[in-house]
Amino acid sequence: MSKRIGVLTGGGDTPALNATLKGIALQCEEFGFELIGLMQGWAGVLKRGAYCHLVPEMIDENRGGTILQSSRTNLRASGQIGEAVENLKKLDIDALIPIGGDDTLSVGSELSNDFATTFVTKTIDNDVGGNAPEGNSVDYTRLVNYFCPGFPSAANLIAKYVNDIRTTAYSHNRIIFVEAMGRYAGWLTLASAYGHPDLILVPEIKYEPDNLAACIEKEYSRVGNLVVVVSEGITGEDGKLLTESEELDSFGHARPGGCSELIAQDMQERLPSISSSNFRHQVLAYMQRCGSPIPVDRDTAIRAGRLAVQAIKDDKVNYVATVMRTENGIETQLLHLEKVLARGDDGHIIRRSLDLRFYDAENFQISEAGIDYFRPIFGDLPESFYYPDLSIQYI
Ligand code: F6P
Repeated sequence: MSKRIGVLTGGGDTPALNATLKGIALQCEEFGFELIGLMQGWAGVLKRGAYCHLVPEMIDENRGGTILQSSRTNLRASGQIGEAVENLKKLDIDALIPIGGDDTLSVGSELSNDFATTFVTKTIDNDVGGNAPEGNSVDYTRLVNYFCPGFPSAANLIAKYVNDIRTTAYSHNRIIFVEAMGRYAGWLTLASAYGHPDLILVPEIKYEPDNLAACIEKEYSRVGNLVVVVSEGITGEDGKLLTESEELDSFGHARPGGCSELIAQDMQERLPSISSSNFRHQVLAYMQRCGSPIPVDRDTAIRAGRLAVQAIKDDKVNYVATVMRTENGIETQLLHLEKVLARGDDGHIIRRSLDLRFYDAENFQISEAGIDYFRPIFGDLPESFYYPDLSIQYI
């Protein structure tokens, strides 16, 4: 039976969103389904919302961002779930595929009580899903949603910029604090390990300035320049973000950002033996989520999109097309929404934080288990580049 399927993209953009859309469009075409693209996330299902007819030829899976545009629209908070369901029915849509992170899914899961909905995840924060059971060793096949489409490409970008900035750090003996996105989850920050930073500070561990200053002093005297990656989500002793925006988005989140400047200043004050002009900071911001997807991300996102359409054909609603690591490599699998989203006692969605087995907190570095985690995305950790020993002499 032919169906009319709606699709939307919500939250921050990623390089793999168009790839997911391409997979959805291709599968719809193969099944003879019609595809309606709702513009600008959940805003597209409201009064005056905009939509278009989507066919595969319109979508370039190698181009980042989202052809449907996006927004952070919280229909739950505004009490507009009912209006959205009405409008979807008005458009004769049989089933909806929201592509999004935890916020988009939290709206979708409520809407799914009254409307057939199947999800595909996306987020550069990699915080939708579940970690492998606790224990000394990590069973990678038990990570629910091994990675969120969009994350591998962002991980690749942060590793590239961190690697690149070394040439400037070296040339000027700088200590550069590079700020990574990812909100409260350290996945993206940890991925910078593939660009060989000297120190990595993830948000799951509170800021300890004394410890950090001692480490910087030691490493700087040894190396002569440093690249320190800090997550935008770093919190202080009180558990509050070091820096955040005053205004909240429609999901009630303050925007993190700016802590690299604060940490650079703090370290400069604590380390007067190092020239103050050597402390710099660099906020990577959207440079981490723009541009084209890397092949593993693109291809997985296409498959996830196809799987969501297959689920709808099989009348499986409230499922998520997830990404899993199996004996055969990275595969897509359908899982029920409640198996993907962890919820707190009051029903709110708990984001997946970085599995701290992947982080060596003592040395501010990625652990062996962390390298194993990234292996399906990047392969082995590459050799880092060193300038040759110049055997410098003094006059
Ligand atoms: O949720 C994805 C994300 O990129 C976060 O890592 C970051 O804090 C936030 O979005 C930035 O959002 P905005 O698009 O509002 O600047």
